Amino acid sequence: MNILIIYGTTEGQTRRVADFLSKEFQNLNHAVTLSDANGTPPSPSGFDAVIIGASMHMERYQEPVLYYIREHHATLNATTSAFYSVSLTAASDDEASWQDLRHITERFLIAGHWRPALVEYVAGALRFTKYDFFKKFIMRQIAKRASQSAATGEDKEYTDWSALKLFSAKIIQLAASAPVTVRPEESDFEAVC
Ligand SMILES: Cc1cc2nc3c(=O)[nH]c(=O)nc-3n(C[C@H](O)[C@H](O)[C@H](O)COP(=O)(O)O)c2cc1C
Repeated sequence: MNILIIYGTTEGQTRRVADFLSKEFQNLNHAVTLSDANGTPPSPSGFDAVIIGASMHMERYQEPVLYYIREHHATLNATTSAFYSVSLTAASDDEASWQDLRHITERFLIAGHWRPALVEYVAGALRFTKYDFFKKFIMRQIAKRASQSAATGEDKEYTDWSALKLFSAKIIQLAASAPVTVRPEESDFEAVC
């Protein structure tokens, strides 16, 4: 299969997840194109599966990811596609924070007119050694709210790599069972949306 992975990242964890997924697919002999939404990501046309990832900062995902989704929503909705969200909230067991996370994600996907077949919530990382004063302050508040022990000020990765292995397997399964469809040109959709 021909798989496209697009990601938005601020401190690098979402790219680490994209790299991991890419290696998983390549190990199964699939071809992978990996691209940062901040650069010039390719159109999703012609790929068998498209995975898009973004991370949460101050309750928002990266704007270039939203622009990409909006521009290509017609093709994304006609392809096996999945979204992964990276956040600290996903590492917590606080139900109210999880509800916020789900609402923000739903609003983001609706704003992009995209209905991915799968949405995966990925626990991110604390990188105190890389944060400036402002980010350290913000992260202490967020980590406290999300019940994480941020008092130590140490770096910590919460990402569950075995859950991501399962996520990659589900994508392959979905793409393999997807009916072959004739994909209209994106411009055909733009006219009606
Ligand atoms: C300034 C800042 C703001 C953040 N805001 C949120 C937030 O609102 N909700 C949340 O769950 N996580 C938040 N996080 C945690 C990030 O989502 C987490 O560190 C993630 O691993 C970052 O992914 P990235 O390295 O790909 O950017 C924030 C992190 C920073 C540094």
